[in-house]
Amino acid sequence: MTHTPRPPSVAFEAAENEGSNPTGNPTLGDMVAARLSRRDLMQGLVAVSVASEVLWPRALEAAEAKEQTLAPSPFDFAELSVAPSSPTHHVAEGYDADILIRWGDAVLPHAPAFAPGKPDAAAQKLQFGYNNDFLGFIPLEGRSDHGLLVVNHEYTNGELMFPGLAPRSDKNADFSAVTREIVDAEMMAHGGSVIEIRRNGGKWSVVPNSKYARRITADTEMTVSGPAAGHGRMKTSADPTGTRVKGMLNNCAGGVTPWGTWLTCEENFNGYFWSKSAAEPLTLEGRALRRYGAPAEWFAWGRFHDRFDAAKEPNEPNRFGWVVEIDPFDPTSMPKKRTAMGRFKHEGAGNIVNGDGRFVVYQGDDERFDYVYRFVTDGKVDPGNREANRDLLDRGTLSVARFHADGTGQWLPLVHGSANKDGQVWLNEANGFRDQGDVLIHTRLAADLLGATRMDRPEDIDVNPKTGKVYLMLTNNAKRKAGDTDAANPRAENLFGHIIEITPDGGDHASDTFTWDILLRCGSPRIATVGATFSAATSENGWFGMPDNCTVDAEGRLWVATDGNSPKRTGRADGIWAVETEGRGRGTARCFFQVPTGAEMCGPCFTPDLETFFVAVQHPGETEDDGPVSTFENPGTRWPDFADGVPPRPSIVAITRKGGGRIA
Ligand code: FEO
Ligand code: CA
Ligand code: CA
Ligand code: CA
Repeated sequence: MTHTPRPPSVAFEAAENEGSNPTGNPTLGDMVAARLSRRDLMQGLVAVSVASEVLWPRALEAAEAKEQTLAPSPFDFAELSVAPSSPTHHVAEGYDADILIRWGDAVLPHAPAFAPGKPDAAAQKLQFGYNNDFLGFIPLEGRSDHGLLVVNHEYTNGELMFPGLAPRSDKNADFSAVTREIVDAEMMAHGGSVIEIRRNGGKWSVVPNSKYARRITADTEMTVSGPAAGHGRMKTSADPTGTRVKGMLNNCAGGVTPWGTWLTCEENFNGYFWSKSAAEPLTLEGRALRRYGAPAEWFAWGRFHDRFDAAKEPNEPNRFGWVVEIDPFDPTSMPKKRTAMGRFKHEGAGNIVNGDGRFVVYQGDDERFDYVYRFVTDGKVDPGNREANRDLLDRGTLSVARFHADGTGQWLPLVHGSANKDGQVWLNEANGFRDQGDVLIHTRLAADLLGATRMDRPEDIDVNPKTGKVYLMLTNNAKRKAGDTDAANPRAENLFGHIIEITPDGGDHASDTFTWDILLRCGSPRIATVGATFSAATSENGWFGMPDNCTVDAEGRLWVATDGNSPKRTGRADGIWAVETEGRGRGTARCFFQVPTGAEMCGPCFTPDLETFFVAVQHPGETEDDGPVSTFENPGTRWPDFADGVPPRPSIVAITRKGGGRIA
């Protein structure tokens, strides 16, 4: 086989988001006049284009920055002074931020000690994986000081893990130095972990030899359930039934269900496949490969494992890109890929039990110009019978969002053969969809036909348990052109992202309609052309760009984690910002935590008593923008060990208040 590997370019998150949506949605003239949000009208702002030459004039910001008086706030912490970059993490004064677990630490019994620089799949299979992303805390016996922490391991940075590898930023590099040992260790560093944790004397630690401890990897056997199980497009030579898959890939954000299971979401699965599939370009298969960006060839796994070679196993990519449900209380349970929830680059699974008892999951498809989805189960959650909810997620309706210019919106159901309100049927054989399995396996193509709104990279989405409002992080989209903006994505060259607030009509999360508003346009408020809408009370430390993960705590307070701030882009590292959503303080943000050099902020998650805030530091030391190249040999930071020869290690941080008490 002749094959020229193409290494990933610059940062993973940038490379993954070329945007593959060729449609002109939205259509029908429903975006004729861009709608100004309530906030814009109040502030007299108008949508402005961001000219690339004014991206990062930090000197100007500094000159114009002035002291602001903070409005009364539901957050009582003294905000952190932001730093452009630091070898270590920082938290607001009065809080401790302690390392809970690092890549390579023991998860399962008999795990060997972490050995820097040595790829060892057998050891890694027992140890904590790489690039911790989503975190979910599941209390044991209702306690806030003892529970299970479920953790996604999204991807690997081989160049930081092992010696001798070129960094992602080296466009001339290929995979020639990647050995089978490295590939197999990378596969074991993917997936997820279940750890049991306990707080003693105010400090958290991992319970050793826990009966719940589990590692899920890129090789763990899983079942496929729901309408696409056993579908012809899911069958491979290793699995002629189309119901058994090995592993989950690129698990980004997620969710926890009220019945105590973990929803872990496969995002950029396309990066793991290589070689061109034989699929004809005009067939559904061929169009889907292009639409999903597969094979993207970010990893060398296909050299050693045929299933990652799309020319040999053209259906294997169809078996990734799903939401996986895992029961963390039973380490022998089989993870299930829930196909009813659709296949795309799933970011997360923010959820709520609707007033009528049905379970509702909001989901972003993180790519430039991709969509926001909602899944509503047919059945109701049984709060008293865990077993009754076991396969609730196999039956329900997946819909995609259209945001109208007047501040209303619509959920468009992705149901094979069903007619829309004008009596038109789009998801039928004439358009390539023979059955609901086709619709779900090729969700993006189905959503294209329905005229969904093309968004600026939908990342995390979460529901406020107090108000029922839904918060959607749109991280950025530099490729949106001036003539291609719409009310929900109002900025051309949207470098800093925005946050949309969705309110379901009548408080009904299963309603076909909703209203929406832009809570925040992110970026520096000091630069008029950026068009940021942080409140005037937001300090120079308080604004941020690139919202990514989020959580709404039990008090209904929004916390935003960012991915992509840097010395060059915003003069600050990524971190956690607390954002007010109600009353006079709406749109006020303040900084609570910052990550070390090269890292992004993931996994924000509270214990029910709000006394502990877990955050995940992902890819510390990754090469930043045009900063110095970072490798195992010469990393940008050696956080958190700071020992010679030890590379940076993605880790979970437990934040608690000094002397105890509720966070913020
Ligand atoms: Fe894995 Fe969209 O972040
Ligand atoms: Ca990431
Ligand atoms: Ca993310
Ligand atoms: Ca991101």
